[in-house]
Amino acid sequence: MDHFQYKNGVLHVEDVPLTRIAEAVGTPVYVYSRATLERHAQVFREALSGLPRVHVAFAIKANPNIAVLKVLAKQGFGADVVSGGEVARAIAAGMKPEDIVFSGVGKTRAEMEYALGVGVGQFNLELEEEGAVLGQIAASMGKTATATLRVNPDVDAGTHAKISTGKKENKFGVAIGEANGIFDRLSGTAGLSLRGLACHIGSQLFDLGPMEAAYGHVGDKVAELRAAGHVIDRVDLGGGLGVPYERDKVPPSPATYGQMVERATKGWRDGADGHPPVTLMFEPGRVIVGNAGVLLTEVIWVKPGAVNPYIIVDAAMNDLARPAMYDAWHDFEAVAPTGERMIANIAGPVCESGDTFAMGRDIDAVKAGDLAVFRTAGAYGATMASTYNSRALVPEVMVDGDRFAVVAERIKPETIIAAEHVPDFLAD
Ligand code: LLP
Repeated sequence: MDHFQYKNGVLHVEDVPLTRIAEAVGTPVYVYSRATLERHAQVFREALSGLPRVHVAFAIKANPNIAVLKVLAKQGFGADVVSGGEVARAIAAGMKPEDIVFSGVGKTRAEMEYALGVGVGQFNLELEEEGAVLGQIAASMGKTATATLRVNPDVDAGTHAKISTGKKENKFGVAIGEANGIFDRLSGTAGLSLRGLACHIGSQLFDLGPMEAAYGHVGDKVAELRAAGHVIDRVDLGGGLGVPYERDKVPPSPATYGQMVERATKGWRDGADGHPPVTLMFEPGRVIVGNAGVLLTEVIWVKPGAVNPYIIVDAAMNDLARPAMYDAWHDFEAVAPTGERMIANIAGPVCESGDTFAMGRDIDAVKAGDLAVFRTAGAYGATMASTYNSRALVPEVMVDGDRFAVVAERIKPETIIAAEHVPDFLAD
């Protein structure tokens, strides 16, 4: 069930009309639906229910708001994190440290020390040297770091180049052929317990074929490592499942994904011949939060254009960067549509031609002062916002039934200016 619906001609999030949120909080503002977050979490878990040992770590880069994380923590999700800041967020939201997986290609020593100190459950190594350093730091703290090695299977995920991670020229993971040597050399490292593999080939994936191929390579590697005497009891299969930004382009469902995983891991996940069973780990981001949020905006002007009019809205590329960065599509809908349509360009107030959300789009007819939303903005939306052009940092609201709360405040330019300093040597 969709929790973003028109009731009496007005778009509601659960039982709250977006007009009410605009009035109370102003625009632009991200609005999330708690019920949708919960539903997506449940659907994802359900899709994996055929697998005996599963750990789901929400990729909190997709939406790190602590209220959002709290909802997912209550659903039993852990977190996939890529920075010390994300570790802190996961913990602030009540996630158990042992349920946190620390990914990321450039963990600093300070971040490793902090993460070990709070008891993070797993580190996904990106290179051999990282394993050596992590072991040293852990040993010096009297701890042992549990780790997997992220392998790059050299598979083309068939997604946008900027969010593709599993080709050999990408910066992520070690070439899968090098895993054996790295395991041999790192095994026995004090402070390090290397006992699995990790793999993530990209984001917004619509084709399960490349994922299945990648998981197949991972399975082959598990068998080789076991044969060489290594204990493998966890394999992190990453995230990446796509969401429908355009209504008529539908990605594989979590259920179909779950069936594929069952098929692809069948030969090795349950252990055998003295090998321990494997816990399969997942790092979904977008599929959990993408369709649980919208960006609510107000039309400032309808500006005549050479071909089509420009709808100038009060949200901009600093609030929702995806169209400018990846030519991404976000559906645009009036909060109170009249039934009339228009062909228009949609752009924000930032002083760049790239601050354009759509060109020549068939949309609900809107005029200055109307409210509208960009759909499917719950993932990689607010978290990628900036204050470019000295715009405020966009706030976030969560709806729960007929109530709502501001879960991230609008950070105004005054607050940001107050954190800047004119040095003495520039004093008048
Ligand atoms: N695990 C790892 C190691 C990742 O790098 C990512 C995403 C995920 C999990 C979660 O992937 P998801 O399930 O959300 O596809 N800003 C871009 C997306 C960047 C994705 C980066 N890594 C966008 O707006 O499309």
